[in-house]
Amino acid sequence: MPWNQDKFERALQTRRFGREAVFFQEIDSTNRWLLENEGRFHTAGATVIAEHQSAGRGRLGRHWEDVFGKSLLFSVLLRLNKLNSAPLGFIPLIAGIALAQTISETCENSPKGLQLKWPNDLLIDDKKVAGVLTESVTSKNKFCVVVGIGVNVYQDAAELPMATRLPASSLHLSGLTISSRENLLAQILFRFEKLYDLFIECRVQEIIQNWAAFSLSSRSRFAVKRGEEVIRGTYEGIGNEGQLLIRESNGNIQEIYSGEIVSETDRQRDSARG
Ligand code: BTN
Repeated sequence: MPWNQDKFERALQTRRFGREAVFFQEIDSTNRWLLENEGRFHTAGATVIAEHQSAGRGRLGRHWEDVFGKSLLFSVLLRLNKLNSAPLGFIPLIAGIALAQTISETCENSPKGLQLKWPNDLLIDDKKVAGVLTESVTSKNKFCVVVGIGVNVYQDAAELPMATRLPASSLHLSGLTISSRENLLAQILFRFEKLYDLFIECRVQEIIQNWAAFSLSSRSRFAVKRGEEVIRGTYEGIGNEGQLLIRESNGNIQEIYSGEIVSETDRQRDSARG
């Protein structure tokens, strides 16, 4: 079904997020557009949505591919006072948590293998279904962060990119029933707004607890790539700045602020999640 902006607005239950919204049938990148046009918006949570991106941006300079009308592609504007809020490293984490909570709480047939991979890949049964790209701009004493989110919703196997770092999937291929993309976005923004309030109020421990519901279980073995270096060890959680904590075999805890998980050798998940 084509995107229906009225239907999205009717489904919205937020105070600010998504209340200012712009929709494009096609654009190069919603992140690029919002970074350049942030001055047009008055509220935190202004949202730009597209049916298709001709030059979708991914993390670490990668491309984000989509098929017209089959993804959820959007960017959310946040305006920050860096002195008062939680550390910026939590922004990608809260976006990922909002995605994971929405899927687990609102989709029929919510999957058991739903997992967040630091900092913000959303996996179902080890396949990536959504990604988050955070970019920022400073203008006239304002610090703006644009959080871009891409969710593969209705793609079939042949419509997914092949040459990706992680195998890709879609919500549809993972067996989930989605009421509509409009409702999905309204639900994501509802949770994102609540998590953003925790972020603004510096309630870091609550964010970390929310993250833990979808992350690797404690002491799982994994490896992370930081530049050219690969660090192996066990998962020790998330630090007070949103950084990944990994314990090496010699007992040292490494703090990873930028990098990506390259392998996981122990896939145990928190049994409480079923
Ligand atoms: C990743 O590499 O995992 C992040 C992908 C982020 C893609 C989204 S789609 C909407 C927004 N606009 C962009 O150009 N990129 C983000």
